[in-house]
Amino acid sequence: MQLKRLYSDNFRNLFREEIKLNPGVNIVLGKNAQGKTNFLEAIYVLASANSPRTNIEQEIVNWDNQYYFVKGEIQSLEDTFSISVGYSQGRKRIRLNENPLERVKDLLGRFMIIFFGPEDLQLIKGSPQVRRQFIDREMSLLYPLYYDNLQRFRSVLAQRNNLLKEIGEKKSDEGALEPWDEQLASLGAEIVSRRIRFLNELKERVSNRYGKISGENLPLEIGYEASLTLDQNSSSQDWKRGFIDAWKRRRKEEIIRGVTVIGPHRDDLSFRLGEKELRNYGSQGQQRTAVLALKTGELDLMKEKKGENPVLLLDDVFSELDGARQEALLKLIGEDLQSIITTTDNNLQEIKEPRYYFTVENGKFCRWEGRK
Ligand SMILES: Nc1ncnc2c1ncn2[C@@H]1O[C@H](COP(=O)(O)OP(=O)(O)O)[C@@H](O)[C@H]1O
Ligand SMILES: [Mg+2]
Repeated sequence: MQLKRLYSDNFRNLFREEIKLNPGVNIVLGKNAQGKTNFLEAIYVLASANSPRTNIEQEIVNWDNQYYFVKGEIQSLEDTFSISVGYSQGRKRIRLNENPLERVKDLLGRFMIIFFGPEDLQLIKGSPQVRRQFIDREMSLLYPLYYDNLQRFRSVLAQRNNLLKEIGEKKSDEGALEPWDEQLASLGAEIVSRRIRFLNELKERVSNRYGKISGENLPLEIGYEASLTLDQNSSSQDWKRGFIDAWKRRRKEEIIRGVTVIGPHRDDLSFRLGEKELRNYGSQGQQRTAVLALKTGELDLMKEKKGENPVLLLDDVFSELDGARQEALLKLIGEDLQSIITTTDNNLQEIKEPRYYFTVENGKFCRWEGRK
């Protein structure tokens, strides 16, 4: 898959920029705070109608204006299509080949990307929320229905939590919980079983990649740490029943705290190398390799599912990686895929030709021939 052209208008500091991209390697050079990440963010928005950095659309709108608009021309193995995402007056508008799409889910799964930035390197060490965000984002790109489910789960969860608070304040009674429990448990069960299935698909590919990058023989295991203790092979029905029972058991606590204490919004992922938990016992190098393996393993999975490579977006990650890990990434870039790589210094001489260089300064892009 390939992004041929990107037009962005009032997208943060990218003011009416039209950029034609190389089917192979694209290197975007720029000092800090010039617009490199904004550029990749705009591409991410084309793929998902959501930003990897914020949930507040208004943050993306250029400070001096009232709207943003991004449009991309994309080439897949099968055809060429355009996607545009715009936002103004509190409304997001998504178009596919100029035809409006009603919902975000109608867009997902078409333009496939892998985004890899410095924050991802915190994945293993960071909070459970970081890992949930990871799995939710990645799965949303692949499975539109998962995204849809997740949105509905979040909305029902917020309503159930409100109700718990009201019960605590004696404004409602416990009987009112039942229909909400039923709905939330169904949605939650679907999310958990999809996540477990996704991890099962991902595991072997990630472990393979880990072995290749590190040369270590230990298998890298990814585990799903559910807040509800249940056999991971359980059916969706079992998860649903399990949630309803668990909420009943912990009702008092839930009412006092005004939150739903068990569910996919409380789950986590674990990474183990052999017997050792990477979060606590892994070296920084091993943790980084694991993230790299995770991202590249995901690329393998996407490729298999879609029959072609996604576009690889690398946001300033080379400077964070050392020898073997840089090499592993370079090798990947050498494969038959389009990559868009941002960096503050031109230390990427080893990357194969053909490549395009861009410099970005204050949101202005300039195609640049040759090397430093
Ligand atoms: N909504 C916005 N409108 C205009 N400029 C913005 C907006 N949001 C961020 N910026 C500007 O974008 C720049 C940061 O861009 P970014 O792509 O993150 O930099 P980098 O090149 O370091 O990756 C900063 O100068 C910031 O002031
Ligand atoms: Mg940046």
